[in-house]
Amino acid sequence: MLTKDNLLLRPPTNSNLDVSFLADLRNDPSVAHQLINRALPSNPLTIYKWINRKCKDPHEEFLFIIETSSDEGSKVLSGYATYKIIDQTSRVAMLGICLEKSSQNKGYGNIAVCLMIDYLYNTLAIRKFVFESLLSNKASRKLFANLGFREVGIFASHFLSHGAFHDIVLGELILSETNN
Ligand SMILES: CC(C)(COP(=O)(O)OP(=O)(O)OC[C@H]1O[C@@H](n2cnc3c(N)ncnc32)[C@H](O)[C@@H]1OP(=O)(O)O)[C@@H](O)C(=O)NCCC(=O)NCCS
Repeated sequence: MLTKDNLLLRPPTNSNLDVSFLADLRNDPSVAHQLINRALPSNPLTIYKWINRKCKDPHEEFLFIIETSSDEGSKVLSGYATYKIIDQTSRVAMLGICLEKSSQNKGYGNIAVCLMIDYLYNTLAIRKFVFESLLSNKASRKLFANLGFREVGIFASHFLSHGAFHDIVLGELILSETNN
């Protein structure tokens, strides 16, 4: 479990609560569009398989549920965060994050991505982080820019969704240039 302030990242469970939360989030067409995701529709079985695939080996990829605390102290399921180690030898990981609408724009994205980077850097020795985002996704691009990521290029006209082709921005953050 990873925690900072009132936010916690924890592994998902196969409980109805987690599975239906993830299914609802991933079935929202506007969210799927922002996530550059085509895996629609999700149902409890596809989510269950997705959780199990993502959490099989934390040295390859992982999925965290993001929980926050309300002012009254109760726990709120706010979203999920993912990483995928795309090259073990070079120690590079791709990050992903998704918050449900009422949890957006409160700084949770910043905290959740920071927690994942700290964990991956300190525990799995990952030295380079990358993300991809729709060019039009200003919140996501600002979130990563605020953390020191630099945008390195654009795949033009790359993602067909909602009847149009969309550009995708690629960004990177290198924490250590050592070869160790
Ligand atoms: C993208 C996302 C993770 C951002 O998380 P968040 O918690 O809302 O972001 P934060 O509050 O930490 O910070 C977002 C930053 O973007 C800014 N921002 C938000 N909406 C914006 C907009 N429409 N235009 C410009 N900037 C915007 C915020 O002001 C903030 O910057 P600041 O701290 O310098 O003021 C969240 O909105 C989300 O889950 N969206 C749906 C899924 C998605 O797009 N995932 C990312 C795919 S790469």
